[in-house]
Amino acid sequence: MQGRGTGSVAWAAVARPFYITTPIYYVNDAPHIGHAYTTVNCDAVARWHRLLGDDVFFLTGTDEHGLKIQRAAEAVGLTPLEMADRTSERFVEAWRELDISNDDFIRTSEPRHYTAVQEFLGRIRDNGHIELDSYEGMYCVSCEDYYTEAQAPDGMCPIHHRPLETLAEENYFFRLSRFEQPLLDWYEAHPDFVQPVTKRNEALGFIKQGLQDISITRTSIDWGVPVPWDDRHVFYVWYDALINYATAAGFGTDPERFERLWPVVQHVIGKEIIRFHCVWWPAMLMAAGLEPPKEVHVHGWLLVGGEKMSKTKLNHIAPSELVADFGVDPYRYHFLRDVAFGNDGDFSYEGMVQRYNTDLANNLGNLLSRVATVVGKKSGGVGPAPSPDSPLAAVAAAVYADAADAWERIVPSEALEATWRLIRETNAHLEVNEPWKAEPGPEDDAVLGDALEVLRIVAILASPAMPATAREIWSRIGLPGAPEDQRLPEAAVWGGYPGGLPVEKGDPLFPRMNPS
Ligand code: ME8
Ligand code: MG
Repeated sequence: MQGRGTGSVAWAAVARPFYITTPIYYVNDAPHIGHAYTTVNCDAVARWHRLLGDDVFFLTGTDEHGLKIQRAAEAVGLTPLEMADRTSERFVEAWRELDISNDDFIRTSEPRHYTAVQEFLGRIRDNGHIELDSYEGMYCVSCEDYYTEAQAPDGMCPIHHRPLETLAEENYFFRLSRFEQPLLDWYEAHPDFVQPVTKRNEALGFIKQGLQDISITRTSIDWGVPVPWDDRHVFYVWYDALINYATAAGFGTDPERFERLWPVVQHVIGKEIIRFHCVWWPAMLMAAGLEPPKEVHVHGWLLVGGEKMSKTKLNHIAPSELVADFGVDPYRYHFLRDVAFGNDGDFSYEGMVQRYNTDLANNLGNLLSRVATVVGKKSGGVGPAPSPDSPLAAVAAAVYADAADAWERIVPSEALEATWRLIRETNAHLEVNEPWKAEPGPEDDAVLGDALEVLRIVAILASPAMPATAREIWSRIGLPGAPEDQRLPEAAVWGGYPGGLPVEKGDPLFPRMNPS
């Protein structure tokens, strides 16, 4: 008893905290494949870190305040909170359907968030960085942001291509301009703060253009977090939204937990919200006397017909439409693998069918079914052990190193590309050795054992992307337990498949789809 207690304390002390976040999504819009893109990528990375034994905290949620939500609710005769209740439930359901393993789901209308926001902004004010001032500017309600003449010379929002509105208010201002130099110093001292480097340069560009103070409260609406020192005002939605990442880590409610999770946090965002996460947010944290996040990872847009999906463009695709045709794991795999993380990617149904047939039906599915078939015919359904000096051992080791590196950098597309290299090489190895040929050779057992060992390793490496498929492969090759209970890096070392286990052929994992 005593020894065990001490052991678990020691383990808890060495488990690294790993904290990853998606943006919190606006509740005027139903979940679409763009939101799912970010969420699935974060989920896979969180699952990878659980394999490493890290103490993972994976956060997603909904952004519920602001003028945009208030107007959207009015348009359909709901209160903002009723609208938020309905839509946040749709996000929860969408993530359940996609097997998302988030540890928390934050809603900015929750009391814990009000507490955190008021405490956070109270600190910034106590530190002298919030002051009353007046402002008039051109505002885009879809962005919930002001634009200058230089940014929008035609009076149109550069993102939504709709006319900007002139807003004039007496508001509290955050003295962002004071943080120009501290931000530049931070970027200089933390070269990996924003990734990839093209997006880092974009963020640095915003800072070098010069920073304006920002209006952070509103008197024109009441759907927001009340400003504790002036009850005529609520906080501006972006200002409350960014703080969600601190709220969920325990800021204002659980200081000990916050200490552990801050600042290890890594944010994953789409490229249109770089300025908020890479300029405003680190400045807000500095102003509150806290450290900026560890890293911000920026990805590109999924385009449909060459345009960003959006409510106004009506080019939404709901994840469930594709899940109905492809299944959950192929859905997850496609979006993780298809777009090089960081770039824009044009989604097409035909492209999804093609990748499914190539990577899943022909490569992974075929590897499992041919191995199981031959083991059934030649070894009475009992899987042979791998050979210690298989040529595939070196491939597996190199693939593991590349995949681990890519997951660590939060580039799932590359991690899966590496993993599929092992699958392709193993199929090629089988084709050269032909263990299915009529005349059994002395090497056949080893070739089959090697392929089973590859399937064991692939099940672990692919489990962050395709958790249910990985479990299915694991049980078909006779292994006890589940791939997600394995510990990396040990579990990826060549030779773990013991041999002597029952191998089951079963139905094809990925029946081929007709290109329509
Ligand atoms: O911006 N391609 O919320 P939002 C790729 N509430 N990713 C996409 C995408 C697309 N076409 N469309 C959306 C907000 N996304 C704020 C965030 S955070 C403190 C507040 C993903 O509902 C991507 O992650 O507009 C993008 O950044 C996010 O959804 C924007 O979601
Ligand atoms: Mg948006």
